[in-house]
Amino acid sequence: MMVSPDVIKPIEWFHGRVRYLDQTLLPAKVEYRETEDESVLASEIKRLAIRAAPLIGIAAAYGVALAINKVEKDDPAQRKFAFERAYTLFAATRPTAVNLFWALERMRRVFRANEQEPLDKLKHNLLAEARSIHEEDRKMCEQIGLHGAELLPTAAAVLTHCNTGRLATGGIGTALGIIATAWEQKKLKHVYIDETRPLLQGSRLTTWELSMYGIPATLVVDSAAGFLMQRGLVNAVIVGADRIAANGDVANKIGTYGLAVLAKHHQIPFYVAAPTSTIDFDVASGALIPIEQRASSELFQFFDQSFPGGDIEVYNPAFDITPNALVTAIITEKGVIERPTAESMSSLRSHSELSKRAGQAEVST
Ligand code: MRU
Repeated sequence: MMVSPDVIKPIEWFHGRVRYLDQTLLPAKVEYRETEDESVLASEIKRLAIRAAPLIGIAAAYGVALAINKVEKDDPAQRKFAFERAYTLFAATRPTAVNLFWALERMRRVFRANEQEPLDKLKHNLLAEARSIHEEDRKMCEQIGLHGAELLPTAAAVLTHCNTGRLATGGIGTALGIIATAWEQKKLKHVYIDETRPLLQGSRLTTWELSMYGIPATLVVDSAAGFLMQRGLVNAVIVGADRIAANGDVANKIGTYGLAVLAKHHQIPFYVAAPTSTIDFDVASGALIPIEQRASSELFQFFDQSFPGGDIEVYNPAFDITPNALVTAIITEKGVIERPTAESMSSLRSHSELSKRAGQAEVST
């Protein structure tokens, strides 16, 4: 019997605790864990048990709520200490996805607005803000799905990278949300899933999600993308984003840039799907986006073998930058920006835009 994808709940607030799915164990094991300790939650983000741009923003917001919940005495200094400590803790988890800093800034705004309120009210309002961030992301995914599905040709054969679905967001997903919506609208013929080296978000997570929908899909090694395009098997590429600069340059999972170059060569549209919380108007271009470097062990351990030996160094950036010139369109909940430039992107800027500048620090994990 096919399981409905609705059962996927990567994170939720559960009786004063955060309940989350440990994504490192998927697809072999579906294991939910619970914690009321914000430090545990921050470690889980670092080790990718909770991962992907929108989801880590949601998790950090709940993490701040957990930290404030532990404050017992209604003392301004204690409240401030707990808040700032939690903010710094989560800001230091992963540097690239700006949704994390966006969510933390939203929590900070609520903290400041409630500075004179009793402790119980502060706790209540911070949790309410975290829940709103979660719920808003669910709604943004729906809109992205609808806008993106409109752009796809009938009998679309889509190539996607990494995991951008229910496991990555508060809703149906971004790139994968478009795929799910196009499937519902009977516009989708096939999906090709990049395995996504080195942590296999494609072969472990996206395959798991798509098989729940019953969407016909084929898993390929990352390096097969060019060959698929050359054979005419793909008529659109859709990926997510971790941070989009003000000019439309896109930071996303390592390998994305290569896909964009290949798509351009083969004249295949290259779409980036992301909520506006992923856009960083404080960063003028992709060159300024901090790129997370991850541990060398991710590359030289495979099954029970370790390699290489000797003095070989490992370079393991988790993300790369795709220049705006290679992007056919950025699909957001507010609409579609074709051929993004600094000028066209500025139409997505809202007056309530929060600075995401806290995201500039380099973190190595
Ligand atoms: O290292 P990860 O698994 O957190 O990387 C995730 C991605 O690169 C996703 O494509 C991105 O966060 C968008 S998810 C909607």
